[in-house]
Amino acid sequence: MRPKSERAFYITTPIYYVNDVPHIGHAYTTVAADILARFKRLEGYQVFFLTGTDEHGQKVEKAAQERGVDPKSHCDEMVKRFQSLWKKLNISNNDFIRTTEARHKKVVQKILQDLYDRGEIYSDNYEGWYCIPCERFWTEKDLVEGNCPDCLRSVNEISEKNYFFRMSKYQSWLIENIEKNERFILPLSRRNEILGFLRSPLEDLCISRPKKRLSWGIEIPFDLEYVTYVWFDALINYVSGIGYGSDGDRFRTFWPEAVHLIGKDILTTHTVYWPTMLRATGLTPPKMVFAHGWWTVEGKKMSKSLQNVVEPNRLIDLYGVDAVRYFLIREVPFGIDGDFSHAAMVHRINGDLANDLGNLFSRTLSMVHKYFDGLIPTPSQSQEIDRDLREVSEKVLPQLSKQMDDLAFSRALSSIWEIVNAANKYVDETAPWSLAKEEKDRPRLGTVLYHALESLRLLALLLAAFMPSTSEKMWSQLQMQENLWEQNLKLNGKWEGLKPGRRVVKPAPLFPRIDPAKISLE
Ligand code: MSP
Repeated sequence: MRPKSERAFYITTPIYYVNDVPHIGHAYTTVAADILARFKRLEGYQVFFLTGTDEHGQKVEKAAQERGVDPKSHCDEMVKRFQSLWKKLNISNNDFIRTTEARHKKVVQKILQDLYDRGEIYSDNYEGWYCIPCERFWTEKDLVEGNCPDCLRSVNEISEKNYFFRMSKYQSWLIENIEKNERFILPLSRRNEILGFLRSPLEDLCISRPKKRLSWGIEIPFDLEYVTYVWFDALINYVSGIGYGSDGDRFRTFWPEAVHLIGKDILTTHTVYWPTMLRATGLTPPKMVFAHGWWTVEGKKMSKSLQNVVEPNRLIDLYGVDAVRYFLIREVPFGIDGDFSHAAMVHRINGDLANDLGNLFSRTLSMVHKYFDGLIPTPSQSQEIDRDLREVSEKVLPQLSKQMDDLAFSRALSSIWEIVNAANKYVDETAPWSLAKEEKDRPRLGTVLYHALESLRLLALLLAAFMPSTSEKMWSQLQMQENLWEQNLKLNGKWEGLKPGRRVVKPAPLFPRIDPAKISLE
């Protein structure tokens, strides 16, 4: 573990249900979290990036039953799908937590027992309605035409003894905490949504399920007839995954520095249940919960019945890993709903990646080979046009840091593209191919190509978090000796970091153009 003096940054994704295989919604949050984790590491932070799987509860039990396997074997099989996808997507998580692991179960039971001992959990008879797919209780007045207000499916009437967490007791503390911390719930529209929700009285939270109805869960330590409600179990992964109760040093380094990335559908669990659970346990709430939007597919809701679920593995095979990462993050501002289409994807790849970035890279390196035998030339006296390129490039880094702190990934990429565009314009306007015609222009030709190469070095560094394997390719073709991942954005993000005299590699295309007619969707 690195020295404590380094600033710590803790980033999480939701832990995904293993009732089904991963789709682009899952890939979206995980890629966003990875980009932030990599970026913060390059800024010099000590980063912990946690993802994992949510393996208990009715959904998973039912999925296993339908396949005729026991729930644990089902989880063991499905978890591999997530883990191999994250590998393929170049996800740099520091750990992967499964809620069926002993290290997690121990923490859940410890917290339950402690809350029970201190009277924060009590038993009561529950009468009301229950939605199986959402695993939620509803009162009569919550129902919409007799159905679940969330998913609109039918509900069952039940009456049973259960255990409840005194969540209502924390309502005014929670409101105050949200109001005091402008950046606790982002985007602001989501913050207002939760403050609106908290205008009505908050109820206590039912945190148990009788085993006779659901046996696939963590046993309640003080009543073995019951298992833990899946959300109470799942949320605790954010602390069990960084050593709460087992590795005090690690826990204190990263908590409460947490940024939880989630989809907008799981906002209440993360901004009402979770902070009140923490408060009752004596822990500080996380620093930030950011809820992103949902993807539709070619204008329609993604669903199994419509058979339009976008499978990330197939996308990667079709377009390449970095093109997929880039598209998801560039196409739609984080926080807003977006629409996936192959046409939009191909448009981004051919435009931003092949035409703008790829072309800049290959034409610059080709000219260095053609005119300087591949050796990086030594720059001489700068002209105004060179200084302009430098200015644009140096302006981007501080903007980028701020945009990344705001999770404005799409804007961050357009800032980086200001360098791509400026460098393309620079090459067009300085026209190295004309300078190459006269021997007397050779020093100027060297200066121009040096600056063009320098913008590429900077781009490789700034893009590393977003498109890691593309940046690695650029970095190694530029013959940079230093390890890309040990660079520091502030120190190495300055102009003229490129050393003259090294021989760059003959360029291989970064992003081949895609012929839309050749994309077979079957
Ligand atoms: N297991 C819970 C989370 C527990 S976290 C303590 C869960 N799992 S999930 O697998 O159903 O969903 C995980 C995430 O995927 C959610 O953040 C959800 O918003 C996201 N998405 C599911 N479909 C999506 C889209 N179509 N688009 C974008 N994200 C979507 O909820």
